[in-house]
Amino acid sequence: MVIPAVIVVLVSECILVVLAGDYRVSKTENGIYTVQYNPEDYNYGPTLAPTSQKRKVLIVCLTNLARSPIAESVFRKMMKRRRISNQWEVSSSAAMYFEDLEEENIIREALHVVRKIDPDYDEIKRIFAQKTRIMTKDAFRTHDYILAVDEMTYNATIDRRREWNEMYTKAQVMHFDKLDPIKMTNRWFAVNDKNFTHFYRRCERAILAFDMKVNALM
Ligand SMILES: *[C@@H]1O[C@H](CO)[C@@H](O)[C@H](O)[C@H]1NC(C)=O
Ligand SMILES: *[C@@H]1O[C@H](CO)[C@@H](O)[C@H](O)[C@H]1NC(C)=O
Repeated sequence: MVIPAVIVVLVSECILVVLAGDYRVSKTENGIYTVQYNPEDYNYGPTLAPTSQKRKVLIVCLTNLARSPIAESVFRKMMKRRRISNQWEVSSSAAMYFEDLEEENIIREALHVVRKIDPDYDEIKRIFAQKTRIMTKDAFRTHDYILAVDEMTYNATIDRRREWNEMYTKAQVMHFDKLDPIKMTNRWFAVNDKNFTHFYRRCERAILAFDMKVNALM
C-alpha cells in the first residue's frame, strides 16, 4: 500500500502549497484560506480499500445548529467528489445540550454563507431541516471517528467519554484545529458572515487532512 507523501511548503506569506497530489491552499477572499483543487482530478492519494462495512464518522459541534451541519455537508460533498461516498456514513450532532439559543438567527446566517459558496444547496438545506441531535453514549461505540469542529468541542467530547465510561470504545476522536494545516485562533461563536465563511473553508481543509490521514493509516 502506498502512503501519500504530504509536504507542506510555505511559498510566501500568502500562499501555502500542500503537495499531496493536487491541491493547494491559498489565501484569498479577504484573507480567508481556501482550498483549491482541480475538480476533474481530485486525487491526492490512494483511496481506502473497499470494505463490506461503511466507516462511520460523527461530526460534533456545541449545538448542532450551524457548524456541524456545515461540516457534514462539506464532508459529503468532498467524498462525492472523490467518488468514495459509498465508503462513508456521516452524520452530525451536538456535544451537549443548550437552552435558549437564537436558533433562527444562527441558522439563517449559516445558510446565507453556504448558499454563496456551495451551488449544491439542496444538500445543506436537507441537513439543516433535521432536528438538532445530541450526542449519546452509544456514539463512541458505533462510530469509527468522531470529529470535533474545534478544541472546545473536542474537550467537551472527551469529558463525555470519561463521564460515560467509554474510554476504551472504538471511536477515535480528533479535532479540526489540529487537522487544519492553517493554524489560526478562532472564535466561531460570534454569528456573522465572515466567521461562517472562515469556518466553511476550515472544514474543507480539515476534512481533506482527515481523509489523507485515514488513508495513510490503512
Ligand atoms: C482543552 O483541554 C486542554 C487540556 O485540559 C486545555 O489545556 C485547553 O485549554 C482546553 N481548551 C479549550 C478551548 O477549552
Ligand atoms: C468572529 O466574529 C467576531 C465578532 O465580529 C470577531 O471578533 C472574531 O474575530 C471573528 N472570528 C473569526 C475567526 O473571524
